[in-house]
Amino acid sequence: MNAEKLALSLSSILLLLFFALILYGAYVRGIDLPTCITNVKPFDKDTVIKISENRYEIRYIARQFSFFPMEVKIPKNSIVDIYLTSPDVTHGMQIENTNVNLMAIPGAITYYRVKFDKPGEYRVVCHEYCGLGHQNMMSKIIVY
Ligand code: CUA
Repeated sequence: MNAEKLALSLSSILLLLFFALILYGAYVRGIDLPTCITNVKPFDKDTVIKISENRYEIRYIARQFSFFPMEVKIPKNSIVDIYLTSPDVTHGMQIENTNVNLMAIPGAITYYRVKFDKPGEYRVVCHEYCGLGHQNMMSKIIVY
């Protein structure tokens, strides 16, 4: 086999590998992209809504320099719909030990669904520089 054919074969194998990893992430690990909702007026009040046993909705407001609500308690094995917006500047939201990684964008709502299957304290941190208090911007979710 000449070098050209070898290079082609190797790059085809790599492409297949990357594609397989994407499928693995999407279907086995349940990783998907956050949704950005721009056609609905953002809420201006933070809320925690219990939809049913183990189904919750949290409407988060990211504001310099905290997330509201600052503390949420939910039972383990809950599926939580997270909606996020910002009334001031762009923030980021990452929930430790989960796949939640959202942007808080003024005028828009971002959305992601997460399941908390392990009890513990999950810190919610801002990962987008948003001003002088950025490094202190966090809140928490307590799963019991
Ligand atoms: Cu909010 Cu950084």
